Amino acid sequence: MCGIVGIVGKGAATPLLVDGLKRLEYRGYDSAGVATLVKGKIERRRASGRIAALEERVNAEPLGGRTGIAHTRWATHGAPVENNAHPHATDKVAIVHNGIIENFAELKAELAAKGRVFASETDSEVIAHLLTVLIDEGMAPEAAFGAALKRLHGAFAVAAIVAGHEDLLLAARRGSPLAIGYGDGEMFVGSDALALAPLTRKISYLDDGDWVVVTGSTVTIHDHNDIQVTRAIKETALSGALIGKGNFQHFMQKEIFEQPAVIGDTLRVYVNPATRAVALPDLPVDLKTLNRIQLVACGTSYYAGLVGHYWIERLARLPVDVDIASEFRYRDPILEKGGLSMFVSQSGETIDTLSALRHAKAQGQKIAAIVNVPESSMAREADVVLPTHAGPEIGVASTKAFTTQLSVLASFAFAAAKARGTMSAAALNELAGAIYEIPEKVSAVLAMDEAIRAAAEIVAPARDVLYLGRGTSYPIAMEGALKLKEISYIHAEGYPAGEMKHGPIALIASDVPVIVLAPSDEWFEKTASNIQETKARGGQVILIADAKGIAKAGSLATATIEIPESHPFVTPILYSIPVQLLAYYVAIRKGTDVDKPRNLAKSVTVE
Ligand code: AGP
Repeated sequence: MCGIVGIVGKGAATPLLVDGLKRLEYRGYDSAGVATLVKGKIERRRASGRIAALEERVNAEPLGGRTGIAHTRWATHGAPVENNAHPHATDKVAIVHNGIIENFAELKAELAAKGRVFASETDSEVIAHLLTVLIDEGMAPEAAFGAALKRLHGAFAVAAIVAGHEDLLLAARRGSPLAIGYGDGEMFVGSDALALAPLTRKISYLDDGDWVVVTGSTVTIHDHNDIQVTRAIKETALSGALIGKGNFQHFMQKEIFEQPAVIGDTLRVYVNPATRAVALPDLPVDLKTLNRIQLVACGTSYYAGLVGHYWIERLARLPVDVDIASEFRYRDPILEKGGLSMFVSQSGETIDTLSALRHAKAQGQKIAAIVNVPESSMAREADVVLPTHAGPEIGVASTKAFTTQLSVLASFAFAAAKARGTMSAAALNELAGAIYEIPEKVSAVLAMDEAIRAAAEIVAPARDVLYLGRGTSYPIAMEGALKLKEISYIHAEGYPAGEMKHGPIALIASDVPVIVLAPSDEWFEKTASNIQETKARGGQVILIADAKGIAKAGSLATATIEIPESHPFVTPILYSIPVQLLAYYVAIRKGTDVDKPRNLAKSVTVE
């Protein structure tokens, strides 16, 4: 979603602002812009499309000034054209905004009646005019900003500069995240710490409802009641190196190949390498007596939740409900007071999931968050955080975040089984061994890179693709289909293999590849029958299975991808890797923008 950077600096602001925007590119955007104060006056450059287009504009017409704001826009209200790109400005103020102003129509009518003329179709522009009117009425910029915020409804982050005030930057957070960076004689604001990584390591995160007055040497934070508050300044561990591509062509490729390391980093937090005992942070509930767990997430994180559903119920005999976050609140779920709701999210900022978390909290649920960004809103609002240690994930298509989420859920299911006494010591021991071996097995799957690249040749020309799986392979089939859709723009569906005969079988044709995930588990024979049914109707099967499975059903397949044999419990993690790589190689073959696929945003902060 939209990205914000702001600087009250010592030197030229524009190069730093544009650089900051580049580090926010991963969030997804379709236009960009920058505004600075040049001799006290607001000047701006904007461009639709990529940041490279903005750079061209800035090169053609350089933009001086030491104080400024910049923005990447992901279109909601109005097309991604230059007129709608941020910053929006009057002669008095320029603003950048992330989120939605829900009452913009009403405000626009009111401001138009006062003679304000609008230049864009955006909801955001009302903020610039509202501030201008308040300043024109005689208010100081800081007071005008505080007053303007009270008129705005919705979830957003906003930053503003004011003509004639070169040592001033105003910013606020309500719903969408905003970080403050502390420099030496210069200060920064950014949508996340990544944007500010090379500028400073000293970061504080605004709480929801906070607004801030920033100068080159001071940061004054107010809460939603306008009371001056302090927010802790933390040293961030993020550095430019962590967010580089290294020797890889794409962030997604790098992140796929990082998985053995980051799964290991995550598992080590929960599984003791010496004793193989699994330990969770202190939970706000007693796993022994808990009646039910509610899991909630979006997209890939939701599919991780679906695997967790199988695992927790199977191992710990603990009932689980899984909901898509955007539907959760609206179905008015029955949530028992004191029960446990778990929210799964890479970013920890996805507004659908965050709103669902707040809903569950309001119903008296205890909240656990499985998140990758430790300073995120979900992490801060949860009763307990079960972190994934994937490191920054830049590729829009989630990969390492998913397998580390699975690693946490596997550890949780194990710990719950132990606490509830639902598994024998021998079975638990065998399971701990299987969990412990995951990183090594993931490395072995990555070594199948060439076979996966070859299979991509079969998939790339297709218009439609089916992914089939049973049991825990079913969510991975859906995840595989999502990855392919996201980055190759090929229509794909993930189906429970047994459901194929209830409809999707009508789609089987030689030009609709069917990707079958069939580990040697209790469902293998049944899935093999579905391969027969597909073959009998002229379908082309790409079989992802272990050596045993390939020996049994490989002759029916057009291509096979061999995965190491493993305990059935860990197969969802191992089988995630080939579907990620397959989507990646198909996208490469099709020449799409792998890390920044069209229309998508990394962190979805609007409903
Ligand atoms: C995955 O490839 C997606 N881009 C998307 O589905 C993502 O998983 C979803 O938006 C949830 O994001 P979160 O994990 O940051 O909450």
